[in-house]
Amino acid sequence: MKFSALFGCLFAGLAVLGVAQAQPVDPIIIKFSHVVKPDTPKGKGADYFKRLAEQRTQGRVKVEVFHNGTLYKDKDEMAALQKGEVQMLAPSLSKFGSMGLASFELFDLPYIFPSPEVLRAVTDGPIGKGLLKSLESKGLLGLAYWDNGFKIFSANKEIKLPTDAKGLKMRIQSSDVLQAYMDIMGAESNRKLNFSDVSKALETGTIDGTENPPSNMFTQGMDKVQKYAIVTNHGYLGYAVVTNKAFWDSLPQDIRVILEEALDDSTHLVNAIAKQENDDSLAAMIDAKSTTFYFPMPEQAKIWRDTLSPVQKTAASRVGADLIQAINQISEKSLQ
Ligand code: LMR
Repeated sequence: MKFSALFGCLFAGLAVLGVAQAQPVDPIIIKFSHVVKPDTPKGKGADYFKRLAEQRTQGRVKVEVFHNGTLYKDKDEMAALQKGEVQMLAPSLSKFGSMGLASFELFDLPYIFPSPEVLRAVTDGPIGKGLLKSLESKGLLGLAYWDNGFKIFSANKEIKLPTDAKGLKMRIQSSDVLQAYMDIMGAESNRKLNFSDVSKALETGTIDGTENPPSNMFTQGMDKVQKYAIVTNHGYLGYAVVTNKAFWDSLPQDIRVILEEALDDSTHLVNAIAKQENDDSLAAMIDAKSTTFYFPMPEQAKIWRDTLSPVQKTAASRVGADLIQAINQISEKSLQ
């Protein structure tokens, strides 16, 4: 038998055995939707996760990242995840209270985290783990905490003290704790606006001001439509990376392990770059001079703290007095 005939027989034999005709398997698609720009800690984390997940699964998983609310806006994304229309989100921790998980609002309490170490002890310790576990009651699985940063106020009127915000229409996220300190300041809070509509609403005057970590303010161009900002760093904004539990459980075990490792690495990246990203955004906005930034004097900083901190007490019955006490104990220990 000639060599080509021999090769033909061998190939036909393999085909009968199904070896030569192995069909390509469709990749598992993960739609990862979020509401901020790619050039933010969260945007960079989502892109990095995509890269690692696709490389390490050698194409068995394809991650489609939708930045800046292009697939779902804040109000719809959680329902979409529960229905399995997307597979991953990283909503701000302030957005879980309105779905019945009020304890997440502890992250919104003004001046609750005296240092990044206390914050990390909370997210990585029993409190953070317990909160992620509570997501299972909503069909979700909490995978990680990602930082953004500490917030500043901005408005079209100069705010130097809490009372300067009296009567201003301020956009906040859907959290009762945020509402509570806006009430103390005498502001009229607007909790309904989706994040991606805030810049336009500031430009048209539908609202007068808002609060953001600098990276969100800068990447949305809000400094172009706000005259003043005050660097109060009064509260934290971070994220829980969440997936649909039924989806995650249905993944092949080896894929799930690779994705969890890819997510761990992405978490390290986000939490390592977030502070610098915010510092850079603040510096860029100060340089651009569209907004005038005010840094409170020590006595003004004390007034801010004294005025807003009582929310730690008034919100205790909603958020959990035991949790707040536990965080304060972690803070005290960190000072010893
Ligand atoms: C907001 O709505 O202000 C934030 O949740 C946006 C974000 O995801 O950082």
